[in-house]
Amino acid sequence: MQKERTLVLGSAGQIGTDLVEELRRIYGDSNVIATDIKDQPEAFKAKGPFMMADVTDAATIHKIIQENNVKQVYLLAALLSAVAENKPKAAWKLNMEGLFVMLDYCKENNDVKLYWPSSIAVFGTTTPRHNTPQKTIIEPSTVYGISKLAGERWCEYYHYKHGVDVRSIRYPGLISYKADPGGGTTDYAVNIFHEAILKNTYECFLREDTALPMMYMPDAIRATIELMNAPAEKIKTRNSYNLAGISFTPAILVDEIKKHLPDFTCTYKPDSRQQIADTWPASIDDSVAQKEWGWKHRYELAAMTEDMLIHMKEKYKVTT
Ligand code: SER
Repeated sequence: MQKERTLVLGSAGQIGTDLVEELRRIYGDSNVIATDIKDQPEAFKAKGPFMMADVTDAATIHKIIQENNVKQVYLLAALLSAVAENKPKAAWKLNMEGLFVMLDYCKENNDVKLYWPSSIAVFGTTTPRHNTPQKTIIEPSTVYGISKLAGERWCEYYHYKHGVDVRSIRYPGLISYKADPGGGTTDYAVNIFHEAILKNTYECFLREDTALPMMYMPDAIRATIELMNAPAEKIKTRNSYNLAGISFTPAILVDEIKKHLPDFTCTYKPDSRQQIADTWPASIDDSVAQKEWGWKHRYELAAMTEDMLIHMKEKYKVTT
């Protein structure tokens, strides 16, 4: 019998980079297949199986799953909020067609478990902004948010109608050091660390008082894997789970960075991403995830900031 394998679609992105590494640590290098639309460096390909694949190409994706006895799929390929505003049709196509490729496969193969990420972008200006509940008014006004809300509805539909074991998290803004984020509104909270170490100054594209929900990547990866490994009967929410981590404004983050780099300065020049941020919640209530599958975040602002700065210094070989 061939070993059961895990597939990560969109493996070279911000989440995929960390997730593949952690899944390979848990399941073994050869049991986690990474795929991306872009070819990857030889050093990455030497570590474990990698295939180039477009998530909207059903025939190729289905073939990879069948030939490798894949039983878990993490579908991460997507266009994020800022890019999606500039390419609405391309974002809809990638974010939705990729999901249908997998939902339709799992409909015929109920033993394959699917993970699909949603986002705080599903919420809009009519949603309560603070401690946003799991169930609330959901009227997104961004291209990205609309695609994530539609995706959530389809996940729930395929679960109840076709028995698909699909699981999802509404990620807050994710802060990480391994791969750069691409095209998100929350990316300032990653960029700021690079610039702090490289230039000791940063020009922020959001206003200093813009509070957004955020999470450190190690927590997000742990949440993702814990959710996928939870017994199916515990997963009563089949659209997507709220997940809270830390909530802060750029000004609060700057103060935290200054505790380590007292001369660090930040200026503010809000651009079109401010309008996106203004439609999103400031903080999230994740009590349903806590109750149903035992979720608890670990990283607070201080620990996250300290760890990010350590890794940035390593990356840029700064010794002081
Ligand atoms: N971090 C994402 C973005 O800013 C939200 O899911 O687009």
